[in-house]
Amino acid sequence: MENRPQWGTRAGFILAAVGSAVGLGNIWRFPGVAYENGGGAFFFPYLFALLTAGIPILILEFTIGHKYRGSAPLSYFKMRKGAEWLGWWQLAVSFVISTYYAVIIAWAMSYAYFSLSQQWGDDPLGFLVGDYLKVVDAGQVGSIVPGVFLPLVIVWVIALGILFKGVKKGIEVANKIFIPALVILFLIIVVRALTLDGAIDGINAFFKPDWSQILNGKVWVAAYGQIFFSLSIAFAIMITYSSYLPKKSDITNNAFITAFANSSFELLAGIGVFAALGFMAMQQGVPVDKVVSKGVILAFAVFPQIINELPAFSAAFGVLFFVSLTLAGLSSLISIVETYVAGVQDKFNVSRTKAVAIGGGLSALISILFATQGGLNFLDTADAFINNYGVALAGLVEVVFIVWVAKELTNLQNHADAISDIHLGSWWVISLKYITPVVLGIMMVMNIMTDLK
Ligand code: PFF
Ligand code: NA
Repeated sequence: MENRPQWGTRAGFILAAVGSAVGLGNIWRFPGVAYENGGGAFFFPYLFALLTAGIPILILEFTIGHKYRGSAPLSYFKMRKGAEWLGWWQLAVSFVISTYYAVIIAWAMSYAYFSLSQQWGDDPLGFLVGDYLKVVDAGQVGSIVPGVFLPLVIVWVIALGILFKGVKKGIEVANKIFIPALVILFLIIVVRALTLDGAIDGINAFFKPDWSQILNGKVWVAAYGQIFFSLSIAFAIMITYSSYLPKKSDITNNAFITAFANSSFELLAGIGVFAALGFMAMQQGVPVDKVVSKGVILAFAVFPQIINELPAFSAAFGVLFFVSLTLAGLSSLISIVETYVAGVQDKFNVSRTKAVAIGGGLSALISILFATQGGLNFLDTADAFINNYGVALAGLVEVVFIVWVAKELTNLQNHADAISDIHLGSWWVISLKYITPVVLGIMMVMNIMTDLK
């Protein structure tokens, strides 16, 4: 298709890629995952996964999108007829993730508002489960919760509104606003957290290495899972975004910048979150490990508690934190919906407007399931399934397919080298040919075996 849209500037593309990468995964997932899996010792598996899988696959996906100028299904099809299904599988994973990710952004919006008056009171966990989400027993659906439904509608109106406007005028412009704003707000939070009493205890707990875990398979699974999810690789996003790059673009450099920004944000979030946890532990007179949590509980029960205990400017701190979550989430949500918008457009040759209306509309409809009283339970199930089987498995199949079935690695290397400053050497080749397939293969087998037990 000759009229494929294009990014307006190099910075626009990088901000969009960083916007996709930096999300809830950095802020609420990474700190807890690192802590649970060895603290300071986690940095070894993390760096190994980043350098031998994360960055090599990111470069690979940027190159695929740039070379074949298509969404994931079209790109794999152009690489080899009969491989289109791999793209649709990755789109399906994206589709599922987007339906529940949108709901978490909706909660964050509500909580930005609740922060103004600390509406959660003295028992934030009770408020979250009982008053806000009105959670019912596992397996039950219950009714739609208006307090979640309303912000959810707002989230979809914003996300689809941006997507309707297109790649350059919509996605690029939004990220040029969201990402700088996010960096500033988040830096303020981290600095504030670092100046609280007890911050240093939290940071010590975060970095304290537990070497006994380093050979544990579970720790390596966690590191790879974090890297894949966090870099938005293996779910069609980065292929789609790079299919909008102009012919002359430095692929390899862009990939390094994106990965570096994402990991920096992760580290920053770890420090900020643990500084705040250290403060809370000191207030309550308990050791830091008694207050560590992640995900939903960290953001929507523990953070409100921290906000309650702040000596001053609590409302402002709360608003900054939840607005940061919202911005980080929205820029990721846009990228994931764009994967299937582009997939539908390429496949059925329909206008962008139609593709956004159909693809985005469908995921918005399904996401209402997570805005019911059973939503929190469904969300846990969907998230666990996606993380165990969706992302890493899709990544393994992608790499094995490209390297060993389609035998495209050398072609792709030549393509990237021709337009990039940094040339890809044996590090890239060995990582993708041997290290990643072997490590991910072992991980998948282990995952399946523990689930069968
Ligand atoms: N890289 C994102 C993160 O770290 O949160 C992962 C992601 C999730 C991207 C959901 C897009 C998305 F819709
Ligand atoms: Na991330």
